Amino acid sequence: MSLSLIAKSISASPTLALNEKAQILRQKGEPVINFSVGEPRSRAPLDSILAAVQILNSGEVRYTPPDGIPDLKKAIIRYTEEFYDRKVEPENIIVSGGAKQAIMVALQSILNPQEEVLYPAPYWVSYPEMAKLCGGIGVPVPPEDGAFYPRIQDIERKVGSYTKAIIINSPNNPSGAVYSEEFIADIVDFCERRDLYLIMDDIYHRLIFDGRKPINPWMYAKKKDENSKMIIINGVSKQYAMTGFRIGWAVANKKLIEAMTNIQSHQSGGPSVVLQRAAVGALNGIQSSVENLRATLENNRNVMVDLLRSMEGAKVFVPDGTFYCFVDFSAYEKSSHKLSQLLVDKVMVLTVPGVEFGMEGFIRLSFAGSMKEIQEGVERIKWAIDPNAPNELYIGDRKLVRDWL
Ligand SMILES: Cc1ncc(COP(=O)(O)O)c(C=O)c1O
Repeated sequence: MSLSLIAKSISASPTLALNEKAQILRQKGEPVINFSVGEPRSRAPLDSILAAVQILNSGEVRYTPPDGIPDLKKAIIRYTEEFYDRKVEPENIIVSGGAKQAIMVALQSILNPQEEVLYPAPYWVSYPEMAKLCGGIGVPVPPEDGAFYPRIQDIERKVGSYTKAIIINSPNNPSGAVYSEEFIADIVDFCERRDLYLIMDDIYHRLIFDGRKPINPWMYAKKKDENSKMIIINGVSKQYAMTGFRIGWAVANKKLIEAMTNIQSHQSGGPSVVLQRAAVGALNGIQSSVENLRATLENNRNVMVDLLRSMEGAKVFVPDGTFYCFVDFSAYEKSSHKLSQLLVDKVMVLTVPGVEFGMEGFIRLSFAGSMKEIQEGVERIKWAIDPNAPNELYIGDRKLVRDWL
């Protein structure tokens, strides 16, 4: 079969492929623990469900404007004022099929072939593929000091004449690191000075721990008018546990939003009105579910980090937010793919290999699941790779004997 060069260059999302694998094992009745998931397990807020049901009951389920329905834009205007202290108009907003599509149409609107988009490593798996889809080049910036907090000098060093944009994702998937206020201020200033687009992927910005407050990059902008090249990305997926609703958005200057809207209008049209109504319900409704989720995740993080620390060879970074622990297991196995495979094959724990996020030797473990899963999953991992663990393990009434260490 003849496929395009772009199609041939794109790999399947590793996280989606792993979720499918978990599904197959579950269907066979296997006691799988899925640490690869990128979504909270709580229910979507009641207000979102009621809003969706109401429009479904009306039977008036039609096309929407390609940039989103006015009521959702109104809710996003309020959200932007609350969290970014920024007054915007409806023309500064596009609603897309998830934050994913918002980032994609942003990149399609700004990248020419061969132009570069930079992002600190570790990075979300989709950034490199999105750049490729635009004919552009994704350039990861590994921190020279090996830490998960990028330094402005490392980024400056990678910026060249082909650089068009920088993507900053904080709290970061996969590390859970919340970048410092100082770094955010520096990157905003740097992008303004160098006339670069700055894409702030803030999809996890309210899921933060230890008393942190969401960081507002707009606060540091000097260009606060229609010349601003800052693109703020957000959505309902993570904070409201509404991943399946596929609603995200971008806030940016009007010219750019117009270009993004033109692209989106031919690509998919506006997102489903049912799902946009649900997002309006979530944004305008009772907000307690966000804090409940945040507090649950913080508790889960504490438990997972404590359990992992009992493994001598695991280097554990304490995530400041998100629902991911990014653990250096290289003392046990240098290849993250080999390690992920071993964990599925031997103890039915699904994880995501760190190399997919640009860091070999690491594994991403999601703590979005139940406490029981976290405890049992880490126990199984420990048993599978730690030579100090006992030789036998029971999964239910199945006895496993370790013969590979
Ligand atoms: C860093 C990051 N950005 C964007 C997204 C996409 O979010 P959405 O589900 O709204 O498309 C994800 C989802 O995993 C993510 O981890």
